[in-house]
Parts: sequence; C-alpha cells; structure tokens
Amino acid sequence: MSSVVNVNGQVTDGADAKISVFDHGFLFGEGVYETIRTYRQKPFIFDRHMARLRASADRIELPVPLSDVAIRQRVDETMAALRGPGERYIRVLLTRGVGELNYNPADCPEPSLVIVVKPLEEVPDDVLRQGVKIVVVPMMRNHPASVNPLIKSNNLLNNALAMQQAMKHGGVEGLMRNHRGELAECSQSNFFIVRDGEALTPPLSAGLLAGLTRQLLLELGPTIGVPVRECVLTDADLSTASEAFFTSTTKELLPVVRIDNLIVGSGQPGPITGRLLELFRQTALTQSA
Ligand code: PDD
Repeated sequence: MSSVVNVNGQVTDGADAKISVFDHGFLFGEGVYETIRTYRQKPFIFDRHMARLRASADRIELPVPLSDVAIRQRVDETMAALRGPGERYIRVLLTRGVGELNYNPADCPEPSLVIVVKPLEEVPDDVLRQGVKIVVVPMMRNHPASVNPLIKSNNLLNNALAMQQAMKHGGVEGLMRNHRGELAECSQSNFFIVRDGEALTPPLSAGLLAGLTRQLLLELGPTIGVPVRECVLTDADLSTASEAFFTSTTKELLPVVRIDNLIVGSGQPGPITGRLLELFRQTALTQSA
C-alpha cells in the first residue's frame, strides 16, 4: 500500500524512508508514538494526541524536540505528499535517537521524529453489521511498575504476542488481564461491555492505555442518556454482558459478538453500541467540518 514518510523533516515515499540501525527505537524499542486518523482529511483531536505523546515521552524522560505547532506542520507537509481521496492513517513516532550500544540517554543527543501517512483502511460495513470475535489471551497486560501501559510505547512485543494468540484462535483482538486477573484492555484497543443499559470499561488503575476514543465515549455517552463509566471487570462479567465492543482511533467502536466460545448477548451487534458509534462519528465529523 502507498505511504509517505517524514524522517526528521525529510519527506520521501514510504519505500525509500530510512533510519539508522543505531537508533534506540530500533535497538531497544525506546520510543513513544501516536496513531491519529483523519475525518474529512483533517487530523482528528490532534491536540489530545500531542498531549498524550508528551505524557508518554515524559514517562521515559524523552524530550519532545518540537512544539505541537511544528509537529502539526510536519504532519501537514507529509499528508500533502500523499494524494488521493479517502481518510488518512497518521503515525507519529518519537524515539531516543541515534546513539551508542548502551542505555545512556546522554549518548543519544537528538531524538528521531518519524511520521508515516497512508490511506486509512476503514472497517467494512459488513464487519460492523456482523460484529467480531475476540479472544482472552494468556499474555498479561504489563504491570504498571514494568513498562506502564499508560506509556504509548513503541516497545510492543507484549501486544504483538497477544495479537498472535488471538489470530491463532480466530479472533480479531486479544483481550488481556492484569496482574490481579482483572480484565485490562486489548492488544490495540480498549474494551467495554454493556450491562443494564450502561457501558462499562476497566478503570485506568487496572493498567491500560488512556485511549482517546474511550475518553470521548466517557464524555459523550451521558449527553444522549447512555451512562459510560469505569468499572473493575473480571472474566465472570463477560457472561453478564448484553453487548460488548472495543474502541480505538482506527476502528472507532467495533461490536464484539463472541469472546472465545461465549456468545455475547443476542450474538448480534447491540443497540447501545450502535448509538454510541453513531454519536462518536457525528461528533468527529462535526468537529472536522
Ligand atoms: N492503538 N490500548 C492500546 C494498547 C492501544 O494500542 C490503543 C490504540 C488503544 C486505543 O487508544 P485510542 O482510542 O487513543 O486509539 C488502547 C492504536 C490505534 C495503534 O496501536 O495503532
């Protein structure tokens, strides 16, 4: 698929983009990132993504070398180099930069800022209509005292292993538990169940990424009379759900109709999920008008 990449200010075709093998992002997974999408070809909630990028970078003591305005300018320049209709997937990666084969940040004077822009693959309508299967995987979500899940880190091996397990068992996502055995989040998304008309999602204290789609639902749900709140969830809660879904920037809200062998509710995407998805999309399109 076509892509355009900006490496430290240099825009090239994706196939020609290069970064040093001595970059600590490559060597050690030392870096943070954001995945942003467009609506009407405009980056959605860019300011919130930048705030989270800075919070992630702070947690690994990585300086962000540019202002939000300067990063936005690079994103815009990169987007301008990819022609054609449709929405865009934008990944902003910030790594420790090129250094020595050691863990000393002082040996990496310049962080690397990479921006990848490619066409966004939207979730097909028939998948939304049918819903998807996810799998509860044995990989534990990182303990907050390890690589804290609040860090949107380039160090994604745990997430990749969770997704591998999910795919092996016919799922499109892997749902992880935390060190206490509570449900935390999926490999690339936040998890919700619906029970008694309320949408419930594990609290940040369960050890998970503060997803921006998740946060918007917490804010927006009550405006249409759908309570959306944090709640500690365990495996036992799954069979009490009338609906389930997961959320992410690229997938918005995706209805989950099967978790392992459990059929969720009626086995069809549910009405609360549908209402929240419609509300979310309307909000995104209005804000991007
Ligand atoms: N993933 N949890 C994890 C572990 C994630 O990687 C993501 C996002 C989310 C959802 O966050 P948001 O709603 O802010 O996108 C939750 C992105 C899409 C990715 O990895 O590309």
